[in-house]
Amino acid sequence: MAYASFRSIGAYVPERILSNDELSKMVDTSDEWITKRTGIQERRIAAKDERTSDMGANAAKIAIERSGVKKEDIDMIICATISPDYFNMPSTATIISTKLGLSQVTAFDISAACTGFVYIVGIAKAFIESGMKKNILIVGSEKLSAITDYSDRGTCILFGDGAGAAVISATEDKSEAIVDVNTGSDGSYADLLMTPNGGTGSAHDALESDKVCMQMKGNETFKVAVRTLTSDVKEILEKNSMNSDEITHFIPHQANYRIIKAVGDALKMRDEQVVLTVAKYGNTSGASIPMAINDIYESGKLKKGDMLLLDAFGGGLTWGSAILPFMGE
Ligand code: ACO
Repeated sequence: MAYASFRSIGAYVPERILSNDELSKMVDTSDEWITKRTGIQERRIAAKDERTSDMGANAAKIAIERSGVKKEDIDMIICATISPDYFNMPSTATIISTKLGLSQVTAFDISAACTGFVYIVGIAKAFIESGMKKNILIVGSEKLSAITDYSDRGTCILFGDGAGAAVISATEDKSEAIVDVNTGSDGSYADLLMTPNGGTGSAHDALESDKVCMQMKGNETFKVAVRTLTSDVKEILEKNSMNSDEITHFIPHQANYRIIKAVGDALKMRDEQVVLTVAKYGNTSGASIPMAINDIYESGKLKKGDMLLLDAFGGGLTWGSAILPFMGE
């Protein structure tokens, strides 16, 4: 039987830094409020001509190189994004494939907001275990600045841009395999977090609406996030007869330090297990988890064989967690 192994990680962050002080000049807020309520100190903003596919392709090149897999042997590309180059078509994954010089691969996007990366880990695992694919490039890439309303202080302080990517490959060695991926959704909470314009569900059709921006009921979302991120992890650990001591790095979606702290405490995670990048990148939705994995990889904290626990939550509502050994060099 083929198992799926998480072979590498890579990330790309745009150069431009948007500080809390700069945001304070744009909306009625302050560095003190943002830091205290979210833990975010700054976020990256892509250049005007820098697209989601550009950032995704940059992260992907690094992930492919670090994986040791030949570029030509990649047989599928999946991109998780809510800020695609084009809404609906072509998919950002197909544009990334062309930027990488890969023209014959299966390529598609998925939309699961901040849970997107965990969803694509699960999809890649299933394709590999079924024997249909052997080397899958997964990419989480977001230019959230393009769908952020910079006059809404409730959302514009939270989001940033960036990309992360990984290669998942077939292996016969079960000890290298992704242990489990658990995902879910509840559409009855759809109105907590949405981009109301531009689709067939909106009051205006796509051509009439001038701007497609995220809207969020922050406080309600906060409470559901803490509850769901906690129960999600309890469920996957129990299902796999594991406990939190067996986890080397706990990598929650980076939305808000207070959410991460509440979830980490409820799960009795030690501080050194919990990966935090929210202060420097803010919330980068589908890119948040791979950017955080890359952060500990580049700082030398992530070693081959370390057990990762991914935990995400986002618009939809969607949620998901994954347990996997990191098999990169
Ligand atoms: N600066 C100053 N004051 C603000 C700001 C701001 N940027 N934003 C809101 N306020 C005010 C509000 O107007 C309110 O004022 P009032 O008491 O006079 O009415 C007060 O601060 C408290 O507002 P709350 O919304 O209750 O503040 P809260 O502590 O909940 O923090 C936040 C808001 C940071 C948005 C938080 O609710 C949050 O992080 N929510 C969850 C975000 C999340 O996890 N989203 C899911 C993933 S995202 C995705 O899927 C794309």
